[in-house]
Amino acid sequence: MTFNDSPAGFFTSRSNVRVWAIGGGKGGVGKSLVTANLSICLALMGYKVVAIDLDLGGANLHTCLGVPIPDKTLSDYISKKVKSLNELLTPTQIDNLKIISGAQDDVGIANLRQMQKAKILSSFDELDADFVLLDLGAGTAFNTLDFFISAHNGILVALPEPTSIENTYRFIKSVYYRKLKMVEDLLEVGPVIDQAMNAKISQNSTPADLIQRVIEINPQIGHKLRSEISNLSPKLIINQVRTQADIDIGFSMKIISKKYFGINLDYVGYLEYDATVWQSVKKRRPLLMEFPNSGLVNNFDRIVHRLLNIT
Ligand SMILES: Nc1ncnc2c1ncn2[C@@H]1O[C@H](COP(=O)(O)OP(=O)(O)OP(=O)(O)O)[C@@H](O)[C@H]1O
Ligand SMILES: [Mg+2]
Repeated sequence: MTFNDSPAGFFTSRSNVRVWAIGGGKGGVGKSLVTANLSICLALMGYKVVAIDLDLGGANLHTCLGVPIPDKTLSDYISKKVKSLNELLTPTQIDNLKIISGAQDDVGIANLRQMQKAKILSSFDELDADFVLLDLGAGTAFNTLDFFISAHNGILVALPEPTSIENTYRFIKSVYYRKLKMVEDLLEVGPVIDQAMNAKISQNSTPADLIQRVIEINPQIGHKLRSEISNLSPKLIINQVRTQADIDIGFSMKIISKKYFGINLDYVGYLEYDATVWQSVKKRRPLLMEFPNSGLVNNFDRIVHRLLNIT
């Protein structure tokens, strides 16, 4: 793994570990539920999975996986009390699934220094895992965005309600500009982007129009930028759907993301609202284990197959 201090050099994994990061602007939309149950699905399929709680400060992934607060958490790694992430692995009730718990103190992902973030990212290679799933917690702190962008799959969870949809667009917008910054630093194309930004901007101009203006100024750089942005392809899950209209929101968000940002938002599926969720949370048992007949089992199954590109 290579790393330099600018975001452009971020995370070029040479190992076979696939990293999926689960994020979204808003709190309480189901990120931990999704992380826990996608991890369980993958583990039941026979993959070795490590679920990591990066919701530093508000860690609760262990609850969704039915594990008591582990003795050692990421805090111990960040503060160098333990040398390897492997020392933090806590087994779960599922054979192939281990968890690394988030910090219980007030560290906060936003406060991770660049080197600490780099250290965490590079340490994924040391894990004996096919998949590493990251529960990113809420918010759009740079570190959260960097983990999201660095992952092989960045997965957004949203609720079918206006505040959550707005927050999701805000997250996508933050990802867009963070990615642009990475490419800008990498290709040293800052001046061209500045020139495009300073060009006459109409009131309705979109981030996608920005790339179009760069193309007009310098087609080679513009096309490169467009291809980097289109590589982003975040995944979208709509959680707690109750109606067909709720399900359809995902399709509208896909169209809008393309039109406005030029970003291919990949709508990988929805999760029904299901009372078994809070029952399992209350019992501190993993949903898919406690309620194997819940409709959510099929929902998760479909999403995992979609994420694995198995149709
Ligand atoms: N599909 C669902 N059906 C019913 N309830 C749900 C569903 N998904 C989530 N919930 C409820 O929402 C609560 C919040 O979910 P979860 O803790 O996974 O959100 P989060 O995004 O991780 O929150 P935070 O940002 O605070 O970490 C759950 O405890 C559960 O009660
Ligand atoms: Mg959570």
